[in-house]
Amino acid sequence: MKKEIAFIFDLDGVIVDTAKYHFLAWHNLATSLGFEFTEKHNELLKGVSRVKSLEILLNIGNIELTEDEKQSMLIKKNEEYLEYVHQMTSEEILPGVLHLLDFLDEHQIKYALGSASKNAPLILEKVGLLKRFTALVDGNDVSKAKPNPEVFLIAAQKLKTAPENCIVVEDAIAGVEAAKLAKMTCVGIGNQQILNKADVVFKDMTGFSLEFLKKLINN
Ligand code: G6P
Ligand code: MG
Repeated sequence: MKKEIAFIFDLDGVIVDTAKYHFLAWHNLATSLGFEFTEKHNELLKGVSRVKSLEILLNIGNIELTEDEKQSMLIKKNEEYLEYVHQMTSEEILPGVLHLLDFLDEHQIKYALGSASKNAPLILEKVGLLKRFTALVDGNDVSKAKPNPEVFLIAAQKLKTAPENCIVVEDAIAGVEAAKLAKMTCVGIGNQQILNKADVVFKDMTGFSLEFLKKLINN
């Protein structure tokens, strides 16, 4: 008998590369505050919530702001980020993603989104993928950010399956940790050395070969 499996996808860095837009918006905010924010700094914000990202950024600039000032910075950053998001099209779906989703659909394997982004539904809609997911769990649904497993556990519930049956696809260290804490299988997307807690790591989403997927469903 075939084992029941379900997939849970992170969004940024897995389905689409929105990190570049987050970077532009955070970079401009830092410039307006008078310090430099580099691409290397941006790595620290991957998989991290918007509020936590601002804290990290202000730490880098050694800047202290009042709660009200922080709120207006968060609004400003998101407004600029959304200007980029509104221009997104299906062209921005990362290579390998559609092939994988087609395989899952053909084999009636359900999949959900498990993202920290509050903009996740809009982004999926812009790239034409919103309707394909059985369930969405995003930054609006969780109270505890990755590496807390909450986002993936809610996704498993929505998929009506046990955590052990779930395969999480993640590009951030915090996300890989969250998946393992949820007792799920984790496929890391990116660098093997960085994502060393994942069960397997592919350089990018084209790593899901037919051979790998067939093995997975026949296990
Ligand atoms: C993802 C990204 C983070 C981003 C977070 C919140 O996890 O990897 O870089 O800060 O989502 O995104 P949001 O769209 O809610 O600002
Ligand atoms: Mg990510």
